[in-house]
Amino acid sequence: MEQNIFAAGLPVRRRPRPFTLLVFGASGDLAHRKLYPAFFSLFREGAVDDWFLVGFGRRPWSDSDFRSEIEKALSDFKITEEESRYFFFRCLYVQGDIDDIQAYYRIASVVEKDRDLISYLAVPPEQYKPIIDNLYKAGLSKRSPLESRVVVEKPFGRSGKEAAELNDFITERYEEDSIFRIDHYLGKETVQNIAVFRFGNGIFEPIWNNNYIHHVEITVAETVGVEKRAAYYEQSGALRDMVQNHLLQLLALVAMEPPTSFTSDTVRDEKVKVLRALRPLSELDILSNTLRGQYRAGLIDGQAVPGYLEESGVDPQSKTETYAALMAHVDSWRWYGVPFILRTGKRLSRRVSEIAVHFKKPAMNLFPQAFGGANQLVFRIQPDEGLTLYLNTKIPGLTDRSRVVSMDFLYGTGFGRPSPEAYERLLLDALIGDSTLYTRRDEVEASWAFIDPIRRAWDAQAVPLHLYEAGSSGPLAAQGLAERIGDHWRRL
Ligand code: BG6
Repeated sequence: MEQNIFAAGLPVRRRPRPFTLLVFGASGDLAHRKLYPAFFSLFREGAVDDWFLVGFGRRPWSDSDFRSEIEKALSDFKITEEESRYFFFRCLYVQGDIDDIQAYYRIASVVEKDRDLISYLAVPPEQYKPIIDNLYKAGLSKRSPLESRVVVEKPFGRSGKEAAELNDFITERYEEDSIFRIDHYLGKETVQNIAVFRFGNGIFEPIWNNNYIHHVEITVAETVGVEKRAAYYEQSGALRDMVQNHLLQLLALVAMEPPTSFTSDTVRDEKVKVLRALRPLSELDILSNTLRGQYRAGLIDGQAVPGYLEESGVDPQSKTETYAALMAHVDSWRWYGVPFILRTGKRLSRRVSEIAVHFKKPAMNLFPQAFGGANQLVFRIQPDEGLTLYLNTKIPGLTDRSRVVSMDFLYGTGFGRPSPEAYERLLLDALIGDSTLYTRRDEVEASWAFIDPIRRAWDAQAVPLHLYEAGSSGPLAAQGLAERIGDHWRRL
């Protein structure tokens, strides 16, 4: 294999062995929007050097049709002729039906015998099982001493029961450490920084507990609506789409104990302990500690947008929630008594994902007239990635008053270069075989165990569905959740 002249700089530990990346759903939206651009970026950065990319799909494409499709997906890149020659030559296409075992034998004949195989399932969830089964039957899922990994997108089941069944099904065909369950939030730079911030600095960990922290607030707000995904979203809603995975993963990262080392299992061992320590919500708790909403028509950036019920593909009587908020507790020595309030929604006034750690007020307030507010530390996940610490400071001049000021760290100015896309990092990790930023079977099942009773109560319409205007900060009733702990949500 000729040397990739673009391969530079990455420490050897972070280089994959020679591999084939096999993409199911090669003509689909996810592959085009995320995978091909992420893979090309890795190639350009020299992170991968000896590889083949094999697309699998029903369309009757030749290799050269497939290459043109990928080229379209890479239209944001200015690709040089030299890059083009090297890159596209390694992109091959296998045509077939996912249910047809013969197609997998054709894949086997294309996949070289001396390379690791990473199969990426960029397909709807109902296709996971037939694909995995056929990969197994064609001898492509276990290829010792070569490695064979499978990357599974979300949603990973629609309940704890389904997730467990899917886990059983896959683990009969792949080794657990070859199964890569994606939660793309874990690939975000700022999310990875939570662990570095907590465990790479000595000054915060001593106060990271119920003696000093009053509550933790996690927000993932979006301005987009349901887009073209009504068929999926109608079955999912915000609780399954966002809370079960992204928000609970953020919670686990903020709340976990320091792992004994930074390896995939030690980190995930600690995260799963948090998820298992989530206090189950009783039927009564669900009434008082959870809240759901659905957007009606409104304005986003001055543009009129339809309500959820008017979106194409949505049942006009739909009770699917596009907003979810809840209060959770982690019953551990460190967190006992600290509420975690979580909210997420579509068509809100601003796109912002952040975790705000609210500290307790000083034991005694020497400045009763002047106290501006308790300290907050905010992990700004997106946009404006960074960290903000809010502190009380005396207003200069002949006054005794103080005000809350912020100390900001912005990734953009601090490092002067944009953070890589989440998919870039995650894809590289799957190619290398590092599953630290992927969710393990027990984590997925523990988070479903917390979500299932809420889902059941919501599906039984036991909790009111609050309407909120698109472009607002969500249902007014959500304020009550934060007020119960003597605070309010941060402004969006
Ligand atoms: C996905 C959800 O997992 O995350 C989408 O299915 C949501 O509904 C998206 O829009 C949000 O991701 P990000 O990276 O844009 O915050």
